Amino acid sequence: MADDGFFGEEVAATYDAATSGMHDQSVIDTVVDVLAGLAGDGRTLEFGVGTGRIALPLARRGVEVHGIDLSNAMVSRLRDKPGGAAIDVTIGDFADVRVPGQFSLTYLVFNTINNLTTQDAQLACFVNAAAHLEPGGSFVIEVGVPALRLLPPGQRAVPFDVGEKFWAYDLYDCATQSMSSNYVDDDDGSAVLRSIPFRYVWPAELDLMARIAGMTLVDRWQDWDGTPFTHESTRHVSVWRKSA
Ligand SMILES: C[S@@+](CC[C@H](N)C(=O)[O-])C[C@H]1O[C@@H](n2cnc3c(N)ncnc32)[C@H](O)[C@@H]1O
Repeated sequence: MADDGFFGEEVAATYDAATSGMHDQSVIDTVVDVLAGLAGDGRTLEFGVGTGRIALPLARRGVEVHGIDLSNAMVSRLRDKPGGAAIDVTIGDFADVRVPGQFSLTYLVFNTINNLTTQDAQLACFVNAAAHLEPGGSFVIEVGVPALRLLPPGQRAVPFDVGEKFWAYDLYDCATQSMSSNYVDDDDGSAVLRSIPFRYVWPAELDLMARIAGMTLVDRWQDWDGTPFTHESTRHVSVWRKSA
């Protein structure tokens, strides 16, 4: 694995061209509404800031935004965009790197907590988020609910994009709580496999990590528009608050 992790030049070059809906202006506006509201007049810190999909529009609202990311390739895309130079980014691991000062909001969106592949690293991320927060500050995570209920008995794979020459599927290992997203592209007959390792994590385990880090859950929705989280929800947006 290169220094840029799984977000090297090849991924960074096409990240902003993804058509999954994550770049839709209406989706981004809703995310930014929530984050700006939680930030109030304070400073914000995005863990895994990437190419600035969320950080840049949040900064355009007048919110001070800082970021942490380990991928120079992703961050150089952010810096090349209008307003990108004004966002201060620290290159490093958001599980342990420190940024000077205190923040009213730290946030980690788009399943990026799963990029930390051990429980220790995910817990360290919560502790690091809390360490950056002023008393009463918020930590927000957006992440999928593990899709184990979709697993046929005895199987480990959940397909999520299947075509004639392209197959994408998640592989779950319930013994270790590890998973991977796998992409097989056979467009030119060479059937190349790309695999990214993750650690899936349940909402209740995240709540316990937050509690250990000195934060408590104040909101959990199934989406950024505030739709209530239920047993049917496939993902959640959760807000924990650091004790005042
Ligand atoms: C899925 S992208 C999300 C980028 C951006 N937050 C967004 O919503 O578009 C994940 C980002 O997190 C970064 N990342 C993954 N693991 C990281 C870690 N342990 N420390 C710092 N950055 C990390 C990757 O380099 C990548 O830029």
